[in-house]
Amino acid sequence: MNLGKNNLIIFGAQWGDEGKGKIVDLLSKAFDYVVRFNGGPNAGHTVENSRLKIVLHQLPSGILNRRCKVILSSGVVVDLDKLKSEIDQVHDLGVNTKGRILISNRCHIILSLHKHLDQFLETVKGSQAVGTTRSGIGPVYATKSSYLGVRIEDIFDSTTLREKLKILHKVYNHINWNWQQQYEHLVKLGEQFKPYVVSTEKVLLQAIKSGKTVLFEGAQGVLLDNNFGTYPYCTASLCVPGSAIVNSGIPLNNVKNILGVVKCYTTRVGQGPMPSEIQDLNLAAQIRELGHEYGATTGRPRRIGWLDIPALKYALKISGANMLVLTKVDILAKLPKFAFVRSYKLDGKKTDWFDLSTAQLSRVQTKVRWLKGIGPDLSTKEVISFGKMFSKVVEDNVEVKVVGFSFSPRTEDFYYI
Ligand code: GTP
Ligand code: IMP
Ligand code: MG
Repeated sequence: MNLGKNNLIIFGAQWGDEGKGKIVDLLSKAFDYVVRFNGGPNAGHTVENSRLKIVLHQLPSGILNRRCKVILSSGVVVDLDKLKSEIDQVHDLGVNTKGRILISNRCHIILSLHKHLDQFLETVKGSQAVGTTRSGIGPVYATKSSYLGVRIEDIFDSTTLREKLKILHKVYNHINWNWQQQYEHLVKLGEQFKPYVVSTEKVLLQAIKSGKTVLFEGAQGVLLDNNFGTYPYCTASLCVPGSAIVNSGIPLNNVKNILGVVKCYTTRVGQGPMPSEIQDLNLAAQIRELGHEYGATTGRPRRIGWLDIPALKYALKISGANMLVLTKVDILAKLPKFAFVRSYKLDGKKTDWFDLSTAQLSRVQTKVRWLKGIGPDLSTKEVISFGKMFSKVVEDNVEVKVVGFSFSPRTEDFYYI
């Protein structure tokens, strides 16, 4: 994989949980900065290597690589209490974070109000609920869009903070929320967070000008994007790679490489269409157990499906990916046989993702192709040869180069093609 001295965007090409955390940890060694550009604590990136294992929710996955600085850019929404305990957790693992964590003054803060609202909206929706992580994500982006949000910079200005919280209390008066308590808590937290908060776009622009390299780390996946995902069964942020640019304040022409992370099968947490979902519950359960497919944030069992080529083609086209990495090759190889979805039909006619509404996606029929796996007892040599074969299958179907694949949760277990 030749990345040169170019900036890179890494994004999820499915419904999230593709294993981006591991890939960012691996590739961050070649970068000076790792920047998170969307979402908040709804994400769960698992990083596991010979020294440690951690699930990161808000800190970029480059934090374990000591030569990197990590940035939470302005598109990220922050839960300060959770971030504080995440920083403590990283410290406890012996990682020196001094001067390495930078948070944009423009990040919006997730208030306890947003979490109450998330719960409230999901309850009101009943059977139409999205199945959110209940982290307050939809409501915090909603208050941001309606000019009501609280930015991190506001917690250093007690008058502004007080006024903003009072207005929010008036607007959302149907929610039982103690704004004074929130105010006092934020003022206290403000003191602790002051050293981390800067104009991150300024830092990034200077870094790029002086030849430093930046890796942008996406959270969730393209099929959960608020515009291009399966709306309303999606998340509130923009997960497409273009979001890295608009949410970080750097000019368009600063990124050359766009790398999509693709799991060899599909998983989804929460409601919404999933054309390749495996209907055989025993088989789905077998893959779920083999791949430990339980939400890294909520612990919920993930829905399981085969790799979905029409969905992937769509995600890659709108993302402009010029390279792919496959993950969980080992899990697919452990199955005696497996399938992937080659095409869709709607009402008897061949169709592709671009032409389908969210409702139509729920009722497409899929055409699958079966291939042979290896079985449960695999040698590393066998898994690598299987990975090479499957990489070729994916490449032929989606017309984007597969530059490597992952065959265990550990960062070290990666094959460069
Ligand atoms: P989101 O931002 O939430 O989308 O997360 P993510 O893409 O970083 O993925 P997440 O950590 O939620 O899930 C991936 C899981 O797969 C983790 O438990 C990883 O340790 C594990 N994993 C990653 N690559 C491989 C692999 O090649 N093989 C196996 N067996 N596990 C892997
Ligand atoms: P929210 O982002 O918590 O509002 O959840 C909206 C939808 O996105 C739900 O279906 C969640 O399960 C899904 N979602 C949010 N974050 C992640 C993630 O990191 N991985 C997988 N699904 C996610
Ligand atoms: Mg995850």
